[in-house]
Amino acid sequence: MADVGVQPKHFLSNKVEHFTESVIREMTRQATLHGAVNLAQGFPDFPAPAEIKRAAQDAIAADVNQYAITWGEKNLRNAIARQMQAWQGIPVDPETQITVCCGSTEAMISTLLAVCNLGDEVVIFEPFYENYGPDAILSGAKPVFVKLRPPSAPDGEWTFDERELRAALHRHTKAIILNTPNNPTGKVFTRAELEMIRDLCVEFNVIAITDEIYEHILYDGTQHVSIASLDGMEDRTVTINGLSKTYSVTGWRVGWTVASPLVTSAIRKVHDFLTVGAPAPLQEAGAAALGLPASYYQNLANGYRARRDRLMPALAEAGFRCFRPRGAYYIMTDISSFEFAGDIAFSRHLVKDIRVAAVPGSSFYNNPRDGARQVRFAFCKRDETLDEAALRLMKLRPGS
Ligand SMILES: Cc1ncc(COP(=O)(O)O)c(C=O)c1O
Repeated sequence: MADVGVQPKHFLSNKVEHFTESVIREMTRQATLHGAVNLAQGFPDFPAPAEIKRAAQDAIAADVNQYAITWGEKNLRNAIARQMQAWQGIPVDPETQITVCCGSTEAMISTLLAVCNLGDEVVIFEPFYENYGPDAILSGAKPVFVKLRPPSAPDGEWTFDERELRAALHRHTKAIILNTPNNPTGKVFTRAELEMIRDLCVEFNVIAITDEIYEHILYDGTQHVSIASLDGMEDRTVTINGLSKTYSVTGWRVGWTVASPLVTSAIRKVHDFLTVGAPAPLQEAGAAALGLPASYYQNLANGYRARRDRLMPALAEAGFRCFRPRGAYYIMTDISSFEFAGDIAFSRHLVKDIRVAAVPGSSFYNNPRDGARQVRFAFCKRDETLDEAALRLMKLRPGS
């Protein structure tokens, strides 16, 4: 056979040329390397609720150690359906509308693989959670970006322009990805905004894929509205959620989709061949978690509000302009007051010299220039961790 020589690129998919590994997760590695306080990746450094850890231990002791039903253990699906009804007034059939996945990460890619054809377009609000662009590309779709604009006043809201969203939609558009409460901006989409998006979804015959994993982390009296609860969206929404953020168990890898039976049957097929199923004992513990009383969710939100209000003044004092989050557990900041050539150089300085890890803003935008003056901090940490970070960040002040 003729020797064609080594052509390294020949062995790779063209798709992987269009994205990099996650910058957020790389910043965690950098934090470990430099002994930095990790305010980069969104995982708590405090314990998960004792009840749910016990439920996981009990499940393993009771030999819940084999594959669960691929689309999810029955107790967990029943609990998810109960919660959707109780919190959002959405009736869900646990037998035909829920697919439990390995985290909402897998829920999102299984959904996109299930609904997208080659050449479809997927609309994504930016700044966005890093995974959405690569997920769309891996599904054969083209991501199309619509801007969320930062508030001009410190207490204002991130907004988007209806005309820009409309202009992004046309006959190749398959889906709009929503994330509310939003990472990285902390924006909580209002009912009026969601109704406008609903009207456009109906007009352009588009599905909404909504990542609601920060559903219970809300501040300042804001309310979470699931777009699936709006008239006309029952059969054109995939709602994604999971245990990671609500129950402080990001390493358990349990998430899920809720969708119409038709879309669910497509998601289940993809999910089955991607991962077979999520960890069985942790699904069992998930059912216990979803049964926690209402006071748990109140305390969760109150705890995060206190952490937000602890870190924000410290960031402001160090020289950051903060955009006040209304939900989720991140603070997006403007770094214009620092004399650095962009967010990457600044974040490098932060992690290496100041020894606080944050995420450069460019990793949340399609065009890195759009995030060159922004850096994101996560505050899902113990008070001591936030205080240590604040102390270190004071070194950024002029004359320190
Ligand atoms: C918006 C958003 N979606 C999904 C995830 C990942 O969730 P999971 O741990 O359920 O895969 C994150 C994690 O930071 C996130 O911020």
